[in-house]
Amino acid sequence: MKVLVVGNGGREHALAWKLLQSPQVEQCFCVPGNGGTALLQGCQNITLGVNDFVSIAQVAREQAIDLVVVGPEIPLSLGITDYLQALGFKVFGPTQVGAQIESSKSWAKTLMAEAGIPIPQGESFTDSQAAKAYIAQQGAPIVVKADGLAAGKGVIVANTVAEAQAAVDSLITDGFSLIVVEEFLIGEEVSILALTDGLTVRPLVPAQDHKRIGEGDTGLNTGGMGAYAPAPIATPALLQRVQREILEPTVAALRQRGIDYRGVLYAGLMVSPDGEPKVLEYNCRFGDPETQAVLPLLETPLDELLLACVEQRLESLPPLQWYSGSAVCVVMASGGYPGDYEKGKLITGIEDAQSLGATVFQAGTKLDGNRLLSDGGRVLGVTALGPDFQAGIEAVYSAVELIEFEGKYYRRDIGYRAR
Ligand code: AMP
Ligand code: GLY
Repeated sequence: MKVLVVGNGGREHALAWKLLQSPQVEQCFCVPGNGGTALLQGCQNITLGVNDFVSIAQVAREQAIDLVVVGPEIPLSLGITDYLQALGFKVFGPTQVGAQIESSKSWAKTLMAEAGIPIPQGESFTDSQAAKAYIAQQGAPIVVKADGLAAGKGVIVANTVAEAQAAVDSLITDGFSLIVVEEFLIGEEVSILALTDGLTVRPLVPAQDHKRIGEGDTGLNTGGMGAYAPAPIATPALLQRVQREILEPTVAALRQRGIDYRGVLYAGLMVSPDGEPKVLEYNCRFGDPETQAVLPLLETPLDELLLACVEQRLESLPPLQWYSGSAVCVVMASGGYPGDYEKGKLITGIEDAQSLGATVFQAGTKLDGNRLLSDGGRVLGVTALGPDFQAGIEAVYSAVELIEFEGKYYRRDIGYRAR
């Protein structure tokens, strides 16, 4: 079987890596891929934009691709699945109307509210004065969100009314016309990446992401500085509730709207101190870097799972098999990220890290001849497994310490909540 992975992040490196472990997968193409997928045995990068559907379809035709797996939200929200499906390709990832679950927070909130799914209280506004009046009435802390895709920059957790009101103005200035204001929830976050074929939904092992740049979960929000799985906060009892009260009603609500959703439903949950889960957001894709922690634990061949979703036979698939133990992924970033940073720094030590048993997923990298250079904010995601979190954490940091590039930055406390 030949697969084509769309995207260029650490998530896509992990997807290609896992797909190629399956005996059924003979070849993988990545559009456009990165330095990591370029070096992956059996994988070939194709330099095209992720939103260039016409050229992607041409490659899929020329290479006789059996399955297209879409990583990022932007091509999904622009309808890559609709486009390729209409040409007869099998595509893992929701159609444009389904991708609204991520691309429009207010659409997602309405769907969840109507389905009785637990979510924070809030309202959507097109008028900034009305939004500000609501904020003044509710008081702080309060959360202000842009409705559209904002690459992780559209959420402001405001500690004062003035800060929240200023956030409304700055989102409007940035061109967002719909603003969601919602209650601030306390608790611990967990990411449930579930696979669905539009009828059945099956969660992967729960993961926890570290979104803030600084140790102790402080500082600016990032795309994610590390992740670990299975997150102990998601006990079997909690997962059962999530399945019954959140995932299944979401799939049913999508179906009721005539949406045939075949892909990842990624629920970003806040679990309150007394164990009540609420959905902060849905994403229509695999999480990054959660994927780099979750997939190394998956024993079931990934292609079988994704094809079962695309062919709508997830129900008849045997239970997913997982390796025992814990996975910890530490993201190594360029100094300055998530603000300005320099690119083009020589990366060394990856083989040494791998010889300790770690897997190095590349994100913002590129090959220049045979030199590997940094080429983005999040450069690498280093994952190690251990019989427990303590061992996984020790193993991952031993590997990370062997990798060098000028200005490298990483958090030293990934997984601390799981110890
Ligand atoms: P989102 O993109 O909606 O997941 O928001 C990004 C981050 O903002 C989340 O991972 C949370 O850390 C935080 N956040 C979002 N909504 C809330 C909320 N209602 N209460 C507390 N924190 C929130
Ligand atoms: N790790 C957060 C995300 O993928 O959105």
